[in-house]
Order: sequence, then structure tokens, then C-alpha cells
Amino acid sequence: MPSLTESLERLGLRSPVIQAPMAGGGDTPALVAAVNEAGGLGFVGAAYLTGEQIAERGLAIRQRTALPFGINLFAPTPAPGPAPGPAPMMAEAMARLRPFHAELGLPEAEEPAYGGDAFDRQVAALLDSGAAFYSVTFGLPPAESVTAAKARGMRVLGTATTVAEAVALERTGVDAVIAQGSEAGGHRGSFIGDPAANLVGTMALVPQVADAVGVPVIASGGIMDGRGIAAALALGATAVQMGTVFLTTGEAGIPEAHKAAILAAREDQTRITRAFSGRPARGIVNRFMETVEDPQALEAVLPFPLQNTLTRPLRTAAGKAGRAEFLSLWAGQGLTLAQRRPAGELVAELLRGTEEVRRRLAV
Ligand SMILES: Cc1cc2nc3c(=O)[nH]c(=O)nc-3n(C[C@H](O)[C@H](O)[C@H](O)COP(=O)(O)O)c2cc1C
Repeated sequence: MPSLTESLERLGLRSPVIQAPMAGGGDTPALVAAVNEAGGLGFVGAAYLTGEQIAERGLAIRQRTALPFGINLFAPTPAPGPAPGPAPMMAEAMARLRPFHAELGLPEAEEPAYGGDAFDRQVAALLDSGAAFYSVTFGLPPAESVTAAKARGMRVLGTATTVAEAVALERTGVDAVIAQGSEAGGHRGSFIGDPAANLVGTMALVPQVADAVGVPVIASGGIMDGRGIAAALALGATAVQMGTVFLTTGEAGIPEAHKAAILAAREDQTRITRAFSGRPARGIVNRFMETVEDPQALEAVLPFPLQNTLTRPLRTAAGKAGRAEFLSLWAGQGLTLAQRRPAGELVAELLRGTEEVRRRLAV
């Protein structure tokens, strides 16, 4: 078995700390650069960016740091099939938003349409962006994109929430598998079977994935400090991908109301919801989630990406107005360990804390 240092070198990592890509604005160029400069690997979640925006983002990062960084995409999103459930689903989904739009003084929600798939343009921009890592969640990276990225010397990573997904990813030629446990904040990366059933915790998932694949494993979900990182390494991971812990840093670009909600919530106040985007994702329970996914009422959530398009104007307005009850408050179950601090200081503390635990366990 290769040593940790050998596995890290094989993956082109300077340390086990990877800042998770966080599409939607959390992972600013300032965050990516601060993480890099402190010894971690910064990542950009580019799923909602156009090709031009990806090019601009790559440039903004390269102006701040010469160190390698990564860009993440959602796997190609086909047009959603007919919405499950009764035909008036669209009308019901829109009706569920009406009182919230009125409360924020917004015009009525518009019927969302599938805008086509931006993946090919995104990946073309990613290949020219100067990124050293390319990762995909929600599915397998298309074969041509893997070949093209590798031809440029990039490392390719993919997210799995089960052993079957990890094995499927390894077959595409990825350099490492990100094992995302059910504690994780944000969207579930699931793409085989029922995402609602793929809720394996990080502690159980990482060693099973590590046994099933030959490539290095990156643990993700609920890891917040050196104790969590050392535990992930003990389970067979080479590195960790952490999201929530970076959201309360000064450099994170999420609305202040989201940061405050993370710092105020308890570990039992998150749940997995489809209410915001139509895909399961973990966030802090709020009024929007409870109203849109009211178990007593008709199902009124459109398939991804339609629900995401439908709820975007409300979420954008809520962010500007500081109204946490309408925001997608993505956060993982480790959230009470989050602190307000600069990202560079956080990374230094994570690396120091990991070494401290490793030393303590070695004696
Ligand atoms: C606000 C937020 C946005 C996220 N966006 C993405 C994304 O765009 N792509 C991705 O692969 N993972 C995304 N994730 C999931 C992370 O990659 C990672 O699995 C998760 O943050 C790990 O759990 P933790 O939040 O408990 O650290 C996101 C997570 C959060 C909290």
C-alpha cells in the first residue's frame, strides 16, 4: 500500500485538504487563492457558469495564485422527462411560490423552461482555463472530456455516493473518487439508483469505496477539523473535500444571512430536500423547505433543473434582502464546528490539527 505522501504526490496534491467546489457563489476567487496559498487545493463550482464566465473565473484565480486549482461541473443534464405525479404539477409548483414572491415584492414566478445543456461549452472553457483538476458530480464525466483533460495533464475526479457509483467512475478513467457521505452539505452527487436511498454515511462509505477501487479516495461529508481529516485518512482516504467549514470564512461569497444561519444552527437542524432545485441536497430547515415540501399537501416540486430555474429569482432576492427563510441554506451535519475566520487561517489550523491527531494516535 503506498504511503500517504506517495498517494498525495500521485494525485498532485500538496496536502490532504481540498476546499469543495460550491456552485452558486460560495467559492470566490479570493477563497480559492487563500486556500491554495495556505497549503490546500481550492476548487471552483462552475456548474451555473457559462463558458465565458468560466474563462473569466480561471483568469481571476490565476491573477491571485500561481498554484494549481480545480474546476467542477455537473455531468450533462438531459431534458427532464414529464414531471412525476399529476398533470397540474407545474401550476401547483408555481402556486406554492406565489405568497413568497408577494412577501418579497417580486412579480409572479414565471413558468420555467429547459434551457438546453451547457456542458460542452463549459468543458471547452474549463480545458483552457488553466485549471489542473477537473471534477464532475451528478454523473460520469463523458469519455471525450476525460481524454481531453488528461491530454492536458489535468487530474480528473468524480463524486460517488455508493460503491457501485465509485466502480462506474473508476471505469471512466478518473484519477480519484470523491466518496460523498450522507452528512455532506449541498447536492447529493448520486447518479445510480434512487438518490433518496443512497444515504450512506462517510464513516461507512469511505472504507467500502477504498476496498472496491484501485484509485485514491477523497472523503467528503461532515469533515470539519483535524479530527475528521485524520479519521478519513484512517478509513483509507488520501484526502478530504470539505465544504461547510469554508462557508463561514471571510472569503466565502454566500449571503451573510446564510453564514449567520450556519453559525446559529444545531447539528439536527439540516435535512435533505428537493424543494430548491428538484435534486436532493442537504441544507438547514427553513420556512421555504417546509412549505414547498409540505407532507400534508400535493407534491409540488419539479424535476431538476426546472425547480432550480423556478426558485432562482426568489433565492436571489432573498439573498439581497437578508431573508434566510427563502434561501437554500446548504450545510452539512458538522455545522456547529464552523467558525468565522479567514480561510488561510482555517487551512493552517486544519493541517496543524490533523498532524496533532496523527501524532497522538501514533503513540
Ligand atoms: C454550498 C455548497 C455548494 C456545493 N456545491 C457543489 C458543487 O457545485 N459541486 C460539487 O461537486 N459539490 C458541491 N457541494 C458538495 C461538496 O462537494 C461536498 O461534498 C460537501 O460540502 C461535503 O460536506 P460538508 O459540507 O459537510 O463538508 C456543495 C456543498 C455546499 C455546502
